[in-house]
Amino acid sequence: MKISCIGGGAWGTTLAQVLSDNHHEVLIRDINPLFVDKINHEHTHPFFDITIPMDIKATVSLEEAVEFSDIILLSVPTRVTRQVVKEINSLLNRKALFINVSKGIEPETSFCVSQIVQEEISPMHFKGYVNLSGPSHAEELILRKLTALVAASNSATDAKFVQELFSNERYLRVYTSGDVIGVETSGAIKNAIAIVSGVAYGMGLGENARAFLISRGVKEIVTIVLALGGKAETAYGLSGIGDLIVTASSLNSRNFQCGLKIGQGMSVNEALASMEQTVEGIKTIEAAYQIGIKYKLELPIITAAHTVITNQTTAKAALMKLLQRSLKEEIIVVN
Ligand SMILES: NC(=O)c1ccc[n+]([C@@H]2O[C@H](COP(=O)([O-])OP(=O)(O)OC[C@H]3O[C@@H](n4cnc5c(N)ncnc54)[C@H](O)[C@@H]3O)[C@@H](O)[C@H]2O)c1
Repeated sequence: MKISCIGGGAWGTTLAQVLSDNHHEVLIRDINPLFVDKINHEHTHPFFDITIPMDIKATVSLEEAVEFSDIILLSVPTRVTRQVVKEINSLLNRKALFINVSKGIEPETSFCVSQIVQEEISPMHFKGYVNLSGPSHAEELILRKLTALVAASNSATDAKFVQELFSNERYLRVYTSGDVIGVETSGAIKNAIAIVSGVAYGMGLGENARAFLISRGVKEIVTIVLALGGKAETAYGLSGIGDLIVTASSLNSRNFQCGLKIGQGMSVNEALASMEQTVEGIKTIEAAYQIGIKYKLELPIITAAHTVITNQTTAKAALMKLLQRSLKEEIIVVN
């Protein structure tokens, strides 16, 4: 099968390798000519220290990538997704299946990528939508280390199709889900919690503190999932808790690292500028905060994080404010 992969950064390239291993043909489209050149001529990628399969090709031309296949894998940062999807729509002359792997929420609209695709792709170009998410560092999957993901779609047929497209018996196992909003929201909001966990680490707080913030963070993820129409149980699966386990306590995670730098005293802009690759969590804190206001949700950790990233207060003062809240019963939301 042929697949067009829009975005040839760490994750797009890693998934292209999975598809190549599974005997599919992939054309990557990236706006960075250096990445394209390295993939085509050296079979390498600047982010990895390995050789990638020779049959993976790349182009800077979106037109060529859209022409190549009617399966479109979106692996660009969420902040550019709307623009990219708009351009794809203007180039399509048939229906395509969209598979999104970015993990973010559009701050201006509080939309998940499924909703952006629905708005920007006209019905005559839309075959279906699947979100592929879960606990996954590109740095591990590119080395073919065992990983599990979840493919969520409103169409059980499309979810199964993507499950079979990516799964193999060597190192990648994909589950299916019918809860698109739940999977997308959990996958996005966990980046905000990963930043908070990184800030705590950078401030020199211990593992007790991080466990506290992560598990109370899960409650905030569930609160947002429910407000947006997803299911609470989804947040307890691969795309929520699963992804938090790899993101919220690992130095391999860019969101965690970005938080760590803020916790050590860098400004948000300095921390972001020091990161070579996409950090979704900062924009996601803004999006989550706006969702909280819109739906009148109680999100103390997200609110505290928002005061820090908007320079209203220091991380230390935000933490003190969290601790001054009235004492409560621990309530676990299950539905
Ligand atoms: N890296 C991971 O381990 C990982 C795992 C799962 C999900 N994700 C998610 O995947 C998304 C991408 O992450 P990444 O790690 O690949 O980021 P990255 O920064 O490594 O790559 C993003 C790529 O998108 C390209 N790009 C930007 N605008 C583009 C455009 N208009 N058209 C085509 N390409 C464009 C950039 O040149 C870059 O190569 C993020 O939402 C991230 O949360 C990443």
